[in-house]
Amino acid sequence: MKRLMELLQEELCAAFEKAGYDGKYGKVALSNRPDLCQYQCNGALAAAKEYHKAPIQMAEEVVDILKDSHTFREISAQKPGFINMVVADDFLADYANAMAADERFGCEEAGEKETIVIDYGGANVAKPLHVGHLRSAVIGESIKRTARYMGHKVIGDVHLGDWGLQIGLIITELRSRKPELVYFDENYSGEYPEEPPFTMADLEEIYPYASKYSKEHEDYKEAAQAATAELQGGRRGYLALWKHINRVSVEDLKVIYDKLNVEFDLWKAESDAQPYIPDMVQGMKDGGYAHMDQGALVVDVKEETDTKEIPPCMILKSNGATLYNTTDLATIVERKKLFDPKQIIYVVDKRQGLYFEQVFRCAKKTKIIGEDVDLTFVGFGTMNGKDGKPFKTRDGGVLRLEALLAEVTEEVEKKMADREMAEAARKDAAAKVALAAIKYGDLSNQPAKDYIFDLERFTSFEGNTGPYILYTIVRIKSLLNKVREQGIAVPAGAKILPLGNKTQTDVILALSKWSDTVETAFAEQAPYKICQFLYELSDAFNKFYHENKIATNEDESLRASHIKLSTLVGKVLETAIDLLGLEAPDQM
Ligand code: ARG
Repeated sequence: MKRLMELLQEELCAAFEKAGYDGKYGKVALSNRPDLCQYQCNGALAAAKEYHKAPIQMAEEVVDILKDSHTFREISAQKPGFINMVVADDFLADYANAMAADERFGCEEAGEKETIVIDYGGANVAKPLHVGHLRSAVIGESIKRTARYMGHKVIGDVHLGDWGLQIGLIITELRSRKPELVYFDENYSGEYPEEPPFTMADLEEIYPYASKYSKEHEDYKEAAQAATAELQGGRRGYLALWKHINRVSVEDLKVIYDKLNVEFDLWKAESDAQPYIPDMVQGMKDGGYAHMDQGALVVDVKEETDTKEIPPCMILKSNGATLYNTTDLATIVERKKLFDPKQIIYVVDKRQGLYFEQVFRCAKKTKIIGEDVDLTFVGFGTMNGKDGKPFKTRDGGVLRLEALLAEVTEEVEKKMADREMAEAARKDAAAKVALAAIKYGDLSNQPAKDYIFDLERFTSFEGNTGPYILYTIVRIKSLLNKVREQGIAVPAGAKILPLGNKTQTDVILALSKWSDTVETAFAEQAPYKICQFLYELSDAFNKFYHENKIATNEDESLRASHIKLSTLVGKVLETAIDLLGLEAPDQM
């Protein structure tokens, strides 16, 4: 289905041609003076230069050709050469009816279906999730859902950090607390126990303790580094402990991600890429891409056009150890082999931007991935507290995701305390509203921007917030329930009627942006565009709702038309919030 703007543009282009000018000048844009008109074309201003004519004269010629077109209610030339347009009511109603008849509301799937891997979440086993991981999960999930809606084959991978120093720290601390454990006996060759020697709660205490202790005691830090190296070198007992750490952490992470309505297709980790490293390194050496620099193996990645210094990408340290880079490069090798993707999108803290620039350049230069594969970095900013500093919870501690969820849910429950709802329904609704508050508060910003987490504002049921959008959906759900329960008849062939009613027109104009919104949100990895769409449509619908009798309208065809439009708005809103990873309750 063509976009509304495309349809207008086609008419304008044809008119420019008919007037003897190049059709390319018929470009249509949303009006920047919505008080005067809905759409505008500024082409005559540009065309005037080519044809050496007064722009207003050219605009008038084009308007003259279009003045009898059924597409427009008003079309006029304005000085110095704008063409202002107001679309005809039946044209708008036809468009809305076409959207209603299509299960994708006019948004077509991408012509070419591509395989896309999205690397997001990025939690580290045994370490608590922090706010950076929250942002990655929330933004990545929305990008994944939008890409999938566009028809692409999308693989979301959590890419856990499970191969770093944190494991060595835990092993070291465990060893000092329980040296008798069989995992530390180098002569042991039997099976290791099924049951882990710790719980998640233990790990949550052990890791911060060991991390702090290592910063104050050099020998302890060295022991942890040695343990990490031994683990990576394949020491059996340590591998068995590492497996326990992973299993316990992943179980815990699954619960949290589930609460966030974030689902990964793959639960791969840094360790999964390790088997690909030896061949990859060999290839880099054989290809002449890597060279030794002070004992380390590096690949130069600077380019002539660089305006800032891009340091070489280190592949192996002088002691032969691998790095974060090495793992990321080997993960590209693995993804290429398993999925042969057309694009890999990384949703990571923007402070890792330079790092990913090095990795991407290195991957292309060493030909572990083709030039035609898009490696895309979506870097996000920091979530700050009202003091402008990285967010802390009420007790001043570093953010723990569960604590944040609990705090927001409590606030929402307070706001909903007076609702007459069954206890279970209230709990369900509060959880959904709280999640919407957090996620929408995040997603409504451009990813790269820092933003302030404002509990009061994010949980407000009014304004550009998640709860407001859910509230609008709930309003439509209960309206349609009433229609159903009271047996209010809507004839089978009922149509949205052309009414020339401003509130309805605004709803349809907002709806008509659907396909463009989804396509741009996907192409630019910009979920905030979906938020803007949601807010505009919700706002337009709520005005329509207040100013028109819908289910109780005495005029049967008007009633049916209004119900039909409300149904369409409800469906589009629900589809859009699903792209953000949100759900609406039945009541709130
Ligand atoms: N685990 C990393 C961290 O906590 C994020 C991983 C991002 N993804 C990647 N492929 N490096 O910072």
